[in-house]
Amino acid sequence: MSESEHERESTQRHILLCVSGSIAAYKAASLASLLHKSGYELKCVMSSTAHEFIGPAALEGITGSPVYRTMFERPHEITHIALAKWADLIVIYPASASVLARLYAGGADDLISALVLANNGRVPVLIAPAMNSGMLAHPALQRNIAGLQEFGYEILPTEEGLLACGTAGSGRLLAPEVAAARIEELLWSRS
Ligand SMILES: Cc1cc2nc3c(=O)[nH]c(=O)nc-3n(C[C@H](O)[C@H](O)[C@H](O)COP(=O)(O)O)c2cc1C
Repeated sequence: MSESEHERESTQRHILLCVSGSIAAYKAASLASLLHKSGYELKCVMSSTAHEFIGPAALEGITGSPVYRTMFERPHEITHIALAKWADLIVIYPASASVLARLYAGGADDLISALVLANNGRVPVLIAPAMNSGMLAHPALQRNIAGLQEFGYEILPTEEGLLACGTAGSGRLLAPEVAAARIEELLWSRS
């Protein structure tokens, strides 16, 4: 490796992209592509439900790394701790209502919740909710969002528009370009 390549490697910022079970999960591939083209190193986690919506192949092809799914696939490492230490920024894109509830409750039953808990606010956590507008408006969901903001996590806004369920309103996943711009802004402000 040349000196400049080595320098680039050691200064390259690590983004952990976590994908949960929303119909908008396919947009995670666009976000991964934008961040990869900007020179960031990415690792991806998909919840078991996210695998119902999209396969891991696109994310693996873009990032060049296998997608993580559970805490138990790699017996030689403690995956949730290793990923929490590796990340310079964690983004959950899209974040389901269910993952928001688990994060607020401090659960650790799945890889995404466990690694966010293990990271314990060491690096920025960006959360991009995506769901039906009724789900988003529910007081339980709003309480979870407010609680996560109190933990110091950044909740990205949703967009208004026609949702996959056929209703119009808020709850659409923030566009990948806008999410990528916010991620880059945050990483630059910390470098
Ligand atoms: C077709 C379909 C679309 C869904 N879209 C969403 C969604 O956009 N947002 C959401 O919060 N849940 C959505 N769900 C429900 C979640 O997939 C479900 O709550 C799941 O348990 C979330 O798992 P996870 O948080 O572990 O990824 C959808 C379910 C189905 C069947």
